[in-house]
Amino acid sequence: METLFSGIQPSGIPTLGNYIGALKQFGEVQDDYDCFFCIVDQHAITVAQDRLKLRKQIRQLAAIYLASGIDPEKSTLFIQSEVPAHVQASWMLTTIASIGELERMTQFKDKAQKQTEGIPAGLLTYPPLMAADIVIYNTNIVPVGDDQKQHIELTRNLVDRFNTRFNDILVKPEIRMPKVGGRVMSLQDPTRKMSKSDDNQKNFISLLDEPNVAAKKIKSAVTDSDGIIQFDRENKPGISNLLSIYSSLTDESVDALVERYKDAGYGTFKVDLSEVVKQFLTDFQERYNAFYNSDQLDEILDEGRDKAQKASFKTLKKMEKAMGLGRKR
Ligand code: AMP
Ligand code: TRP
Repeated sequence: METLFSGIQPSGIPTLGNYIGALKQFGEVQDDYDCFFCIVDQHAITVAQDRLKLRKQIRQLAAIYLASGIDPEKSTLFIQSEVPAHVQASWMLTTIASIGELERMTQFKDKAQKQTEGIPAGLLTYPPLMAADIVIYNTNIVPVGDDQKQHIELTRNLVDRFNTRFNDILVKPEIRMPKVGGRVMSLQDPTRKMSKSDDNQKNFISLLDEPNVAAKKIKSAVTDSDGIIQFDRENKPGISNLLSIYSSLTDESVDALVERYKDAGYGTFKVDLSEVVKQFLTDFQERYNAFYNSDQLDEILDEGRDKAQKASFKTLKKMEKAMGLGRKR
């Protein structure tokens, strides 16, 4: 069976964008792959975090993974910082990455720009850590949203470089993007990505938003003035974004939705979608609360840590050997 790896940062509560672009797919692939789902807390600290808030968000994210359909009987769910092989392998990959290629990463440029007191070096070396996450499990498939494409490309380059320079041991991963909803946009500015770190609460729907509040956000989402329900990301980004959200939450195709609403106005469409979102969040949060408040959560994470440690050890040792680290015995 092929291996699949993905990670989410516990840097806030995941949004509907994270669910549609990532979490939803995770639940769907567990029977087809040997899956590793990681809470990447070491990536989260590349920007300043409040210690207690981070702790809480790590647990919340674990419960969110489970509420999204991750089944610990089938998949390995764990916390990055509890498996030392990630950072150990990341150091090796950092030594073969060039500063130039790391500086070209869009996410680095965006996040560096927002720093007021100097740019943490970890922001620059973030991608080799992500590459390490992936390669130590001999990952074949990485399901992520559109914004992570560049990091996966870099991972593939680092794999080639490592294999050519040292020994041909690392597996080159493929990216897997969702058919619809690879990029869920902000509700008030549909030309920008929906992001959990947005300052304006109206731009995103958090998976833990009160369902009625979320419904209101949908109703007040920005659309255009021509009032025709059509999928056209370029010229009608607002309504196209809402169509993708609708389609993804109901598994009804965008074409079918366009046909169904062709004589309706934006108002009717938004009221219906707001109900869909409200129902989705109500059900989701019921599952979330059950996991968050159970002792089972720690047992699942302990077991995940042990499984991940075991699974990553072999490749880590092979990498060290290939680079000549340590002693030969
Ligand atoms: P992050 O929130 O940056 O930790 O992202 C976690 C996962 O969700 C990654 O796979 C992202 O590609 C995906 N993701 C984040 N924001 C969006 C969005 N607005 N639309 C679709 N996918 C997203
Ligand atoms: N960088 C990813 C993001 O911000 C999170 C991440 C870290 C990840 N390591 C990963 C995603 C490995 C996929 C595979 O979304």
